[in-house]
Amino acid sequence: MSVITQPTDLLRRQDPQMADVLDGEARRQAGTLQLSAAENFTSPAVLAALGSPLANKYAEGYPGARYHGGCEYADLAEQTAVERAKALFGTEHANVQPHSGSSAVLAAYAALLRPGDTVLAMGLPYGGHLTHGSPANLSGQWFDFVGYGVDAGTGLIDYRQVQDLARAHRPKAIVCGSISYPRHPEYSAFREIADEVGAYLIADAAHPIGLVAGGAAPSPVPYADVVCATTHKVLRGPRGGMVLCGGEFAERIDRAVFPFTQGGAQMHTIAAKAVAFGEAGRPAFTTYAHRVVANARALAAALEERGFTITTGGTDTHMITADPAALGVDGPTARGRLAAAGIVLDTCVLPYGDQRGVRLGTAAVTTQGMGEPQMRRIAELFAAALDGEAAKTRTEVGELTEGFPPYEE
Ligand SMILES: Cc1ncc(COP(=O)(O)O)c(C=O)c1O
Repeated sequence: MSVITQPTDLLRRQDPQMADVLDGEARRQAGTLQLSAAENFTSPAVLAALGSPLANKYAEGYPGARYHGGCEYADLAEQTAVERAKALFGTEHANVQPHSGSSAVLAAYAALLRPGDTVLAMGLPYGGHLTHGSPANLSGQWFDFVGYGVDAGTGLIDYRQVQDLARAHRPKAIVCGSISYPRHPEYSAFREIADEVGAYLIADAAHPIGLVAGGAAPSPVPYADVVCATTHKVLRGPRGGMVLCGGEFAERIDRAVFPFTQGGAQMHTIAAKAVAFGEAGRPAFTTYAHRVVANARALAAALEERGFTITTGGTDTHMITADPAALGVDGPTARGRLAAAGIVLDTCVLPYGDQRGVRLGTAAVTTQGMGEPQMRRIAELFAAALDGEAAKTRTEVGELTEGFPPYEE
């Protein structure tokens, strides 16, 4: 792995203990199947920006108005990231400073809401994120969240229910976005409902934003007042967040990010976001985003043939959520058996009952160059792993991944 060999060689001389940790993680990522719907392999260029001397730089504030000296290159990095994000997503304003997706959502709330306001979002038992009103999160403690669900039969958002809840509770904001919804939200329906009750519409597009960049999913930008996103999922950038909005919210969003909820932004991460936005604007990324969806559809169909119940009957995105109950296991047991066989994924809520299912995504394996034949192979490996053939399947997973190294040797 040329991209990480050099720094780890240097690290090995100085700190062999930590070099072993990083080598071990590189081997784990390359030698097992990364099917977490939230993860991807960034490019060597993104990793280079993350490991650059901008990591040393403090730059509180915004380009041209910093609290620290020596910000000329930090300013250039941030201006480049902002301009690329605006061009990529066709938005008037972009704030690229949020440290994470959660920080981006928090900034949207801070910009638009006051403590005690009512917010309508997908309920946590149906796939809402922690920041959508969990009692364990600031959102659930400081705002009065009302949760909408999905239809227990179809697994799809019930827009009539969203409308009824909006009429009954008159929320100040409606949030659309989820950690486990494999279909496209109908942004126009959310917009209509928000307009009817005078609510702001916040799209938490943490998961689909990379598909939006590649033209493989509808954009929330024309509909939502504020769009929050992560940069590290399908978008294939560094771990981090961003907020997109129209000019009328720009100042409020900027103040909500800094100084209201964050201090100095991580300038090396901002440089890496700029690199990722540059990559996402190229035709190759459009091809990639469409392949991610084609692979997810192929994998969903192959898993269904092997006995998994696929939520909503399929997927429009990178994400599949599935119930393995018909195979005699619940989500946590399935995750454990799959992990033992070198297949890495997450558990998730299901639209019905108390049992958890599994959530997986095709962003990382598609970056590795895998296609539909490999998706069918992966479904076979799932079935073997759940049948208890951990050791044999682990070897076969190794053989599969060997042909698709995430980074060049
Ligand atoms: C819908 C949604 N919102 C927010 C986040 C938070 O992102 P982060 O983990 O970077 O804070 C996630 C992360 O998975 C998410 O799926």
